[in-house]
Amino acid sequence: MPLTPDKDWWRQAVVYQVYPRSFADSDGDGIGDLRGVTSRVEHLRRLGVDAVWLSPFYPSALADGGYDVDDYRDVDPRLGTLADFDEMLATLHDAGIRVIVDIVPNHTSNRHEWFRQALEAGPGSPERDRYVFRDGLGPDKDQPPSDWRSTFGGPAWEPVGDGQWYLHLFAVEQPDLNWDNPDVREDFLKTLRFWADRGVDGFRVDVAHHLAKDLSADPLPSAAELPILDEVVDGSHPLGDREELTEIYAGWREVLDSYDPPRAAVAEAWVAPARRHRYARPTSLGQAFNFDLLRANFDAREFREIVDRNLAATAESGSSNTWVLSNHDVVRHPTRYGLPDDTSGEGDVGRRWLLSGGAAPELDPVRGLRRARAATMLVLALPGSAYVYQGEELGLPEVADIPAQDRQDPTFFRSPGHDVGRDGCRVPLPWAADAPSYGFGPTSAAHLPQPPWWGALAVDRQEGVDGSTLELYRAALRLRRELLGAEALEWLDDAAVGAAAPGGTVLAFGRPGGWVNVTNFGAEEVPLPDGEVLLASGDLGHGVLPGETTVWLRR
Ligand code: NOJ
Repeated sequence: MPLTPDKDWWRQAVVYQVYPRSFADSDGDGIGDLRGVTSRVEHLRRLGVDAVWLSPFYPSALADGGYDVDDYRDVDPRLGTLADFDEMLATLHDAGIRVIVDIVPNHTSNRHEWFRQALEAGPGSPERDRYVFRDGLGPDKDQPPSDWRSTFGGPAWEPVGDGQWYLHLFAVEQPDLNWDNPDVREDFLKTLRFWADRGVDGFRVDVAHHLAKDLSADPLPSAAELPILDEVVDGSHPLGDREELTEIYAGWREVLDSYDPPRAAVAEAWVAPARRHRYARPTSLGQAFNFDLLRANFDAREFREIVDRNLAATAESGSSNTWVLSNHDVVRHPTRYGLPDDTSGEGDVGRRWLLSGGAAPELDPVRGLRRARAATMLVLALPGSAYVYQGEELGLPEVADIPAQDRQDPTFFRSPGHDVGRDGCRVPLPWAADAPSYGFGPTSAAHLPQPPWWGALAVDRQEGVDGSTLELYRAALRLRRELLGAEALEWLDDAAVGAAAPGGTVLAFGRPGGWVNVTNFGAEEVPLPDGEVLLASGDLGHGVLPGETTVWLRR
């Protein structure tokens, strides 16, 4: 199926996130690679996705799973070559699937040519100006310029031995770039052109809100004085979501729009929801991730509030919505939904469960998967694009008990050991129950250990099995393609669906063309609303919609 010439393809696309190291390994070294992706294009085609987003596959020491990039315009030799990339791209395009690549502009790796030059050239040099270097405090300059903490734990400044320190908001191997420097700006435009010229269809922009910074205050504010970034709504935070980004991304948009069709872009921006539209404007990146559901309980009221808020936001930006239930940074949603509701208001029940080593609070995996399937169907029925994280289609839960010696996430090392980090959602995929490494590669090697129960969830165990999560995703994506119309949604009240919704536990909405989604968030069954049943996330009883189940109807 050839690609359609539609320039707005991204507005309601189903985008499948490939985390390349953990997707499929073609050469048996235990690390997934680009040829592995090519070998599994048929899986993606049958699943029915519109696009693939590849997390970084660039040369990297993998200090942060590839988000520490040594060279933005090449492929890590362990993952393949540029020729492998071209072949993968062509195979995906031939299958009618577009390709989005990840751009990491806030920081390079500490092995990047520029950073090496910066260390060699010394204080005050143009080479150092590409990064955020400052003199240390105190007579010997042996104190950090401020007490800021990095996102992964530990200090955000690292000394380089000559009285200067560099800023790294993430791992120590990820020095922050200085976006006031023209070399930096020019080089990323070159990177965008490099991949767009090769034929990629779009870009996912890593921590898009952090690029511009204002470190002119002397002394710098202390960590305690820094406001919480996603609570600032006027662009005044020194480290992120600043006004200067408007100009930077306008420059990117110019490059993206110079292609036919224009290249798409989606911002990863952890900013106040009220600020998200700034990245999603057509004059900016065009789309921004909405991560609100990652923090929500499986709760009708919370879902409805999030949907309403985001529909309003996209109406303001002219963009389309992005719905995300899982990705490579968060606890997989079947696990989150198997935990007791978060009543703390912190919305991070999954992380707390991980911190406990998966011991507490109590996990109900059956309930978690039931709710995850219901939530997925609801999200797939919403206007906008849906991001599906690899393995979601198999109903994979988080792997909590990865031994300390196998952990890779810098969060684990910098906490240290206190936060186990994100490895549990990055375990190499199971493709075949009885094969070595469950079919991930031709040998038993897998860069993170696969649990003994992984095989039961393998693709070949679910293929053709009625009611399996894989078949549910396939059916849902097939139907979505048929049913998808304008980006409109109409809430249906209880009277309109005929379902008594005890305590407001049923959420029902209609899409153009008579497509109706009804989700019963409650534990108790409710009467099944009228209409032709198209698909349900669980077994429908006679004339009832069971608890924690979604049904799609045609009216
Ligand atoms: C966001 C990415 O999704 C995450 O995996 C990474 O660790 C940070 N950005 C830093 O690049």
